[in-house]
Amino acid sequence: MPEFDSRDPNTSAFWDERFERGFTPWDRGGVPEALRGFVARVDRPLSTLIPGCGAAYELAYLSDAGWPVTAIDFSPAAVAAARAVAGQWADRIEQADFFTWQPRRSLDFIYERAFLCALPPAMRPAVVERWAALLPPGAFLGGFFYIADTERGPPFGIGAAQLEAMLSPYFERLEDMAVTDSIPVFDGFERWQLWQRRS
Ligand SMILES: C[S@@+](CC[C@H](N)C(=O)[O-])C[C@H]1O[C@@H](n2cnc3c(N)ncnc32)[C@H](O)[C@@H]1O
Repeated sequence: MPEFDSRDPNTSAFWDERFERGFTPWDRGGVPEALRGFVARVDRPLSTLIPGCGAAYELAYLSDAGWPVTAIDFSPAAVAAARAVAGQWADRIEQADFFTWQPRRSLDFIYERAFLCALPPAMRPAVVERWAALLPPGAFLGGFFYIADTERGPPFGIGAAQLEAMLSPYFERLEDMAVTDSIPVFDGFERWQLWQRRS
């Protein structure tokens, strides 16, 4: 584990330093199977937000499938990494803070991967409230949740019951599946979950 100057994952400097030094153990290098399965069973393109997108491999995949997608990250180095892999879809990436970014069109889907677990547990209520504020009734929150009992992070694990208690006031859970193609840092602790915004 290299030594870093920035220790606060709430700051873009923390993530900039890690991207710039090539220390990105969360980076999957591609699109997870469970997301591919979700895209295959959805009957229409979903207007999608990818918060804290990192290298954002999912952006090109969803865009190629015809989905209107915006990927945001507050770290300039993350945005540069995303633009380097996005090809023709690079203009769909914005440098922005998830907590203040405003959508230009109504969202159908927020895709979660390694964003909730990137932030200290004290930020969780704000993340959940923001998800709920951005999604209209019937829209989906889906992706990968790091279900683990880990006090130190990132990644910060969350208990299954705690996650359910935080999301249930706003969302109904539709799917909950083990993940079989996790990368080592999440292996055995990652679940695909799909939630629908309540009315
Ligand atoms: C662990 S990385 C995960 C990146 C990507 N989702 C993935 O699966 O590879 C967390 C990312 O969230 C970004 N991030 C953290 N807080 C943020 C915020 N408030 N607004 C936007 N991005 C944020 C970081 O810059 C970093 O790129």
